Amino acid sequence: MIRRNRFRVSCDARNGEQNLKDDSKNVDSHGKVDRRNMLFGLGGLYGAANLTSNPLAMAEPIKPPELDKCGTATNLNTNEKLDINCCPPVTPKIIDYKLPPVRFIRTRPSAHRVTPEYIFKYNMAIDRMKRLPATDPRNFMQQANIHCAYCNGAYDQPGQGTLDLQIHNCWLFFPFHRWYLYFYERILGKLIGDPTFSLPFWNWDNPKGMTIPPMFVDPKSALYDEKRNQENLPPAVIDLGLTGSKDPLQVVSNNLTVMYSEMIRGNQTAEDFMGSPYREGTSPNPGPGASERGSHTSVHAWVGDPRQPSGEDLGNFYSAGRDPLFYCHHANVDRMWTLWQYFLPSNKVPDKKITDPDFLNASFVFYDENAQLVRVSVRDSLDNLRMGYDFERIDLPWLDYRPPAQAARTKVMKASSSDAPKAESVFPVVVDRIIRVIVPKTKKGKADELLVLENIELDTTKLLKVDVFVNDEDDNQFELNKASYVGTYAQLPHKTKNKTAKTTISLKLTEVYEDIDVEDDDTIVVTLVPRHQGGGITIGGIKIIEAPASSSSSKSS
Ligand code: C2O
Repeated sequence: MIRRNRFRVSCDARNGEQNLKDDSKNVDSHGKVDRRNMLFGLGGLYGAANLTSNPLAMAEPIKPPELDKCGTATNLNTNEKLDINCCPPVTPKIIDYKLPPVRFIRTRPSAHRVTPEYIFKYNMAIDRMKRLPATDPRNFMQQANIHCAYCNGAYDQPGQGTLDLQIHNCWLFFPFHRWYLYFYERILGKLIGDPTFSLPFWNWDNPKGMTIPPMFVDPKSALYDEKRNQENLPPAVIDLGLTGSKDPLQVVSNNLTVMYSEMIRGNQTAEDFMGSPYREGTSPNPGPGASERGSHTSVHAWVGDPRQPSGEDLGNFYSAGRDPLFYCHHANVDRMWTLWQYFLPSNKVPDKKITDPDFLNASFVFYDENAQLVRVSVRDSLDNLRMGYDFERIDLPWLDYRPPAQAARTKVMKASSSDAPKAESVFPVVVDRIIRVIVPKTKKGKADELLVLENIELDTTKLLKVDVFVNDEDDNQFELNKASYVGTYAQLPHKTKNKTAKTTISLKLTEVYEDIDVEDDDTIVVTLVPRHQGGGITIGGIKIIEAPASSSSSKSS
């Protein structure tokens, strides 16, 4: 819900980007926007389709929190107030951060390939961070608490009543975490007097990196955290699909399929990858992107310690930053954004730029390496090279990991011969067991279509995960490496005011149809497989729609 009806839009073409600025001539005396003026004002960068298809497209960006209004964060599982204070120190002076000129590029290394010298330095940096005075905003715990404050309801959106500020489950996910790591890395570099210091990335998308990197499991190291699932220490292979399979070869193959699906196969628009729009005055958690709800969430859940009351440390947002492994995990999440932006063949992924000013002008605050409070914008986070860092080049075995086409009539269930009920007789449905329904296509056979799961209602206090399959015979739920797997919805526990969130996701079916036998079918069978215990997730409806042409779908230029 938008509480403002005063729109401010104009095009100030600086570096070819758009800026928000007061521009009263676009607003008539009733506070309504003259669309014609707006179109002219935007220099045609915006298509009319965007304005009509998305009435919120010109609201206001999310503003940074007011630190002096930081409140107590909440434990999600008990819904009680946390017994820790995760608010940062308050300083009156905030400055607008300017990216410093890039004199050299920090190259973040793959955490499985670093040298003993690197491990020594990294360890020393983290150790010094832990020894800073507890009130120093660069102190280890203070840094961990940044995540708690932004993710567990300590902040409200400024001027928007009690609406939470939440940077997960929306399009702020990648930019926020990029800035968070950016300053973390600079603080570590400063503490050891090495301005080239670079965070390592946990290369969980490559079979060689699919265990917890060894340097984090040495109990004498500052990188160690005992609150981790002891079953999943090396040599356990990370399970990006959380299928629970114990066969390492199967798990590796599942992982590559998950990566291919969330990076390439399942996304029609930039927002399908990045996350849904979240603007000032709107409810938090509009919907996570494929990467956030996929590999990212699984790694958190897989490392979190089941012996702890709430999956601490990595398994719960409030405590995740207390495990040094968090930053290594998120360095790879950040790498996925970079790969998606600059390396994936553009014929395979949608337009990659979100040019919506409510995205570009959203902002956050952080303490920099000099303990100065700074305000940063999403706009300045779009290019990692401009921010002065890059990633070691590692091959991407998932890039061509398209599942083999399923032979007709062997592994594929045909909708026509299925006794599954029709979707409309089953939905809305609580996904507490395997659910199989027949869903009508928009046309027969192969087509450009999206599967939409709408009004997903979630108990936000729980870890939830549901995998989606099309025309699957369902002989083995430990297998994801097959053409019938189309994607997932998953969330980590996080706080919202009323403990529920509503969200919608869509999954692209084009390649799936090519790889399964849909012939002249005008229906498909959709199977939903929960990976969690019990309820907690209700899906309001399921439908297939024609895929919109990508030019008008992604607000991209
Ligand atoms: Cu802010 Cu991986 O979570």
